[in-house]
Amino acid sequence: MHSFVIQGRKPLKGTIPVFGAKNHALKVLPGALLMPGEVRIENVPAIADVIHLERIIQDLGVDIQTKGRRRILNVPKKIRTILSPELSPKIRASVVLLGPVLARMGKVVVPHPGGCSLGRRPIDLFISAFTQMGARVKNVDEKYVFTTNGARLTGAHITFPRVSVTGTETVLLAATLAQGRTVIYNAAMEPEIPALAHWLNRAGACISGAGTPTIVVDGVKSLRPTPVRIIPDRIEAGSFAILAAATHSNLTITHCNPEHIAVPLRILQDMGVKMVIKKTAIHITHVPRVLTPMDIFTHEFPGFPTDLQAPMTVLLTQARGMSKVTECLFEGRLLFTDKLKKMGANITVLGDHSALIQGETPLIGKRVESPDIRAGLAFVVAALIANGETQIDNAAMIDRGYESLEHRLQAIGASIQRISYERT
Ligand code: EPU
Repeated sequence: MHSFVIQGRKPLKGTIPVFGAKNHALKVLPGALLMPGEVRIENVPAIADVIHLERIIQDLGVDIQTKGRRRILNVPKKIRTILSPELSPKIRASVVLLGPVLARMGKVVVPHPGGCSLGRRPIDLFISAFTQMGARVKNVDEKYVFTTNGARLTGAHITFPRVSVTGTETVLLAATLAQGRTVIYNAAMEPEIPALAHWLNRAGACISGAGTPTIVVDGVKSLRPTPVRIIPDRIEAGSFAILAAATHSNLTITHCNPEHIAVPLRILQDMGVKMVIKKTAIHITHVPRVLTPMDIFTHEFPGFPTDLQAPMTVLLTQARGMSKVTECLFEGRLLFTDKLKKMGANITVLGDHSALIQGETPLIGKRVESPDIRAGLAFVVAALIANGETQIDNAAMIDRGYESLEHRLQAIGASIQRISYERT
């Protein structure tokens, strides 16, 4: 197993690039299954979740060639319909394959998907949507068997009782090949969704409204193989902006789309951070000695993303006064604050969904373990500002979402090393 060992309080300076978006790549790869033939995907991040999903897709009979950040998928006319029972339960995004495989083959067997332990992560919204689209669903031994009895899925009016990112994407993908019109109400609006729809439309789909709460899809008989480029990872960009603020660094974050993180950037500015925002770059130019405390609510896009809550909580330990964080999406996402408290933070957790942070408090290096991708990154931010050495175990969690993080941080002056250790 790997850990990161970080010596804190080193001055950071320079440029840090943002790579392709994890949560776009994890939907485009399944989406390619809708297009028999050769599909080229550019700017794919080399992260563990993507590599894992690629293995699941290869197991369905798809050939994948990797050339740096380019993937060339050769999607056969017939694909297997049973998702690997060993690989699929390990990542949440495996459930997205349900849409394309069912739409193409009329059958799919999906193990219950796993992923970060952020609290309850059911798939009831998927089951109800596909039932409305004409599929039959049986739940046998932790697996779901979806069938259409050889017919195409049928378009339906689907109202999500709560906003679901992968739910919206999975239904959107399947609806492109359904018979008739599908309308998705209360759809998620994350930037990865219009990006997905734009590509599918270029491939011959008929989608309007992606990026708004109502998406209309008129099903077509087939899609043609169409190349696509993964958009920049907005969570990486936001994480690096927070990291710059926490370490009081002049950093330039490149290859990003600042429009996708307008709310987090606005909050950083309200805290006192000065920045110059360009079309594809953010220059953090000045961080004041005293940062203003904030009241943060996580919210679906365009609100403050839950995936930036943990690093932002670390930053708020450095603001002078009382801040409050309300995590509206996942009940497990404040648990990491226990370990942050061991590093010296003054945090009072109020139930599953909110925490009070009294700052500013110096942090001290400790040995901690990364519980999920984003809390892992938060510990990296904490370690960079802490006095002394921090060891973050279970670096594999961070590798799931951030490609070669240590090299990018070393390039801006951080003291971060990857080491191997035996779990006791
Ligand atoms: N939900 C249900 N039933 C369902 C599906 C979801 O109750 O069938 C609930 C969830 O339990 C949660 C809420 O709906 O309380 C929202 O979950 P959503 O479905 O939107 O989350 P997701 O699609 O599983 C994606 C990202 C997450 C990100 C969330 C919220 C991917 C692969 N994952 O998850 O990313 O936190 O949207 O923006 O796109 C990460 O990148 O670290 C990560 C966890």
